[in-house]
Amino acid sequence: KKIALAYSGGLDTSIIIQWLKENYDNAEVIAICTNVGQDENWDGMEQKALNAGASKYFLADLREELTKDYIYPMVRAGAIYEGQYLLGTSIARPIQAKYQVDIALQEGCDALCHGCTGKGNDQVRFELTYKALAPHLKVIAPWRIWDIHSREDAIEYAENHGIDLGDISKKNIYSRDWNIWHMSHEGGDLEDPWNRPQESMFKLTKAPKDAPEQEEEITIDFEKGIPVAVNGKKMGPYDLLQELNAKASAHGIGRVDIVETRLVGMKSRGVYETPGGTLLHQALRDLEMFTINNDALHLKHKLALDYADLVYAGKWYTTSRYALEEFMKKTTEFTTGSVRMVMYKGNAFVAGRKSPYALYLEDLASFGESSYDHHDAEGFINLYGLSTGVTAMVQKQLQDD
Ligand code: ARG
Ligand code: SIN
Repeated sequence: KKIALAYSGGLDTSIIIQWLKENYDNAEVIAICTNVGQDENWDGMEQKALNAGASKYFLADLREELTKDYIYPMVRAGAIYEGQYLLGTSIARPIQAKYQVDIALQEGCDALCHGCTGKGNDQVRFELTYKALAPHLKVIAPWRIWDIHSREDAIEYAENHGIDLGDISKKNIYSRDWNIWHMSHEGGDLEDPWNRPQESMFKLTKAPKDAPEQEEEITIDFEKGIPVAVNGKKMGPYDLLQELNAKASAHGIGRVDIVETRLVGMKSRGVYETPGGTLLHQALRDLEMFTINNDALHLKHKLALDYADLVYAGKWYTTSRYALEEFMKKTTEFTTGSVRMVMYKGNAFVAGRKSPYALYLEDLASFGESSYDHHDAEGFINLYGLSTGVTAMVQKQLQDD
């Protein structure tokens, strides 16, 4: 038996290796790691996995692909979950699970394993990807099987089994997830939704009150709904996001504190830091209003909700998501141009935009002399309000009778 494990180098996935061997006939466990932009001791990762009992180790640097093929399409779609969550964890799971499946198939594994709990969203995201890409493989989710229920249980298990935890931290107040797009914080004192997050909890963004007294301007250029340059400088997808992250986090931009609805229906408190992403969403939304006609724009806003739900649920490799992608691509075909923004103490606001495809015509909108004929409005309103007028007359008549 050979099992492909999504390995993070943390406490849980380290003890899972031993547990799998013990419970699945001394199975061979392949540890599969993904660099999605989190800060890790990458050089020590392989040794850590082997020490924990893995027979083989794989690592992929997915940062560029994650940014280009997952995050930017999601931004182009305007996908934000429940109006606030920029889907930082949700968007990384499909690519992480895909790489795991690729290795599993290449190495001839029988099963796929992950370290997500049975309460959360991540288990669904991993497993929906497994089902989409390798439905024949068995899935093992130890948290839904074993009787380890806490961090203390896990440490005890490691000690009893002689697993060397090395630099793995034994105390972890928050459950965190980190990638190039965001960092999430859950659990600990956040479990009381009234508790204000402690300043020391934040890792990516500066506190707005400590941000510079000086505002800073930034311009972001887009081509067909995809960001391509910052302050006029063209950059690759990953570098561009890094640049926006650096600027936005210095100004304390991108913090969100919410109680969201998990897939299993439970409300759950989460605090997120998405600095560069917050700028991107605001900028693109503005440029879309400037370049997409009313019907398409409004439809796009509605479908963005569905797209966000799909991403949150881990339904990335599905017909619905592929079809929505084509819609988003088509509607942003002319969303090319620049947005000018100002960053100041936790806020970012749009301060100007330009585009070769602007649907805004100064001559038409101007309050001065223009080619727009005011007389046309009379006939327009008569027909536009026809049904309202007819309804009112008929119903008033009935009431009077
Ligand atoms: N609640 C967020 C989501 O569902 C964040 C999950 C973070 N996951 C984690 N394993 N810490 O996308
Ligand atoms: C987990 O339960 O493994 C983390 C949180 C989540 O998946 O929502």
